[in-house]
This record gives sequence, C-alpha cells and structure tokens, in this order.
Amino acid sequence: MVLVSGSGTNLQALLDAIPADRQDGRDSPYGAEIVAVGADRTGIAGLERAELAGIPTFVCRVKDHGTREEWDAALAEATAAHEPDLIVSAGFMKIVGKEFLARFGGRVVNTHPALLPSFPGAHGVRDALAYGAKVTGCTVHFVDDGVDTGPIIAQGVVEIRDEDDEAALHERIKEVERTLLVEVVGRLARNGYRIEGRKVHVGELR
Ligand code: GRF
Repeated sequence: MVLVSGSGTNLQALLDAIPADRQDGRDSPYGAEIVAVGADRTGIAGLERAELAGIPTFVCRVKDHGTREEWDAALAEATAAHEPDLIVSAGFMKIVGKEFLARFGGRVVNTHPALLPSFPGAHGVRDALAYGAKVTGCTVHFVDDGVDTGPIIAQGVVEIRDEDDEAALHERIKEVERTLLVEVVGRLARNGYRIEGRKVHVGELR
C-alpha cells in the first residue's frame, strides 16, 4: 500500500514498475502489487494517478477527527482493511502515530529527500541547500517513532550545484529517489528482509 500527500511521482514510478497485465504481485516479476493508495488530503495528483490505474483509494484527514490520536487510529483502520504486507510512505507529509506503528511497525517504508541522519523533517532539501552542503540525496528507510530516524535501507547521492535553488535540486533528487524506491520496494517484496537494530538485511530472513 502507498501513502501520498502530493504529486505522487514516486507512486507513479511504483505503478510503472508493475506491468498492467500483472497487477497480481505473485505473477509479477517485480514481486509487489499496490493494493491501495491512502492520502491525508483530497484533490491531489497522487490520488488521481491511483484512480487512473484502477487502484482503490482512501482519504483520512486530520481535520475530520477530534484528536491526532483518533486520526492515527482511523488511518490504521483504513490501512488494515487492505491487508498490506508493506506500507510505503511516498511523500506522505504526516508523522504516523503510536497506534499505526503498533499495528504496522517494521513494515512501513519512508522516502526522505536528504541523506539521513542529516536534514530530517519537512524541509530536507531546503535545509541541505541553506547549510551549504556539497552533496545531498535521498534515503529510503523503515519508519520508527522518531522523525526520519528509522533504520536505513538504501541511499542515493546527488551533488549540489552552485546555481541550485530548492526546486531544481529537489527535481534532481526526485529522479534518483524514484529509481531507488522502486528498486528497494521490489527487493524487499521479492527477497524478504530482517531488521536488526539499525541494520536492515534484505534477503536474509534468519
Ligand atoms: C519526495 O521528494 C519525498 O521524499 C518528499 O516529497 C516528495 C514527494 O514527491 N517527502 P511525489 O509526491 O512522490 O512526487
């Protein structure tokens, strides 16, 4: 399952990795299928992409719930209804809470547009640029109860150019990020994985 908040180009890359006639992950050489797409807001391209691909969608908005905890529980419930093996947060701009992690911990993958542990949070691209870093990139990691602190699965490096602004740099990061995310999700699905402390071992189940 994939969670989105925006343009959904990472989602699209995952959709494109699964041949249209092979939506059943068991028959797909890619190894995964997308059972549903969830969002925290309406009217975003990410949801349209899912609908165009014929994938079930749901929206769970914080403002429709009394408290953040109630929202988190509702998100967990909506997610559970689709029985996903893996949940991919692909540009989902919300921190999931206790209930969600209690149910899906160790199965939630996030992609972040910086080389963690540098520049966590909502402005990873802007912060790397402002800091004057010479390289940045993207990190695909498992989600834990911190902000962008979970065990790292893979990273991709992008050079920062003198003439970069946030938009140009983010675009180059996203090119690397999409390829990396597709590669990582496929490997996790096909080979299985084991998380040991901060280390993620893909294809080693014992
Ligand atoms: C990605 O760079 C992701 O890491 C960040 O927001 C962007 C989402 O892009 N949090 P998209 O919605 O997949 O196009």
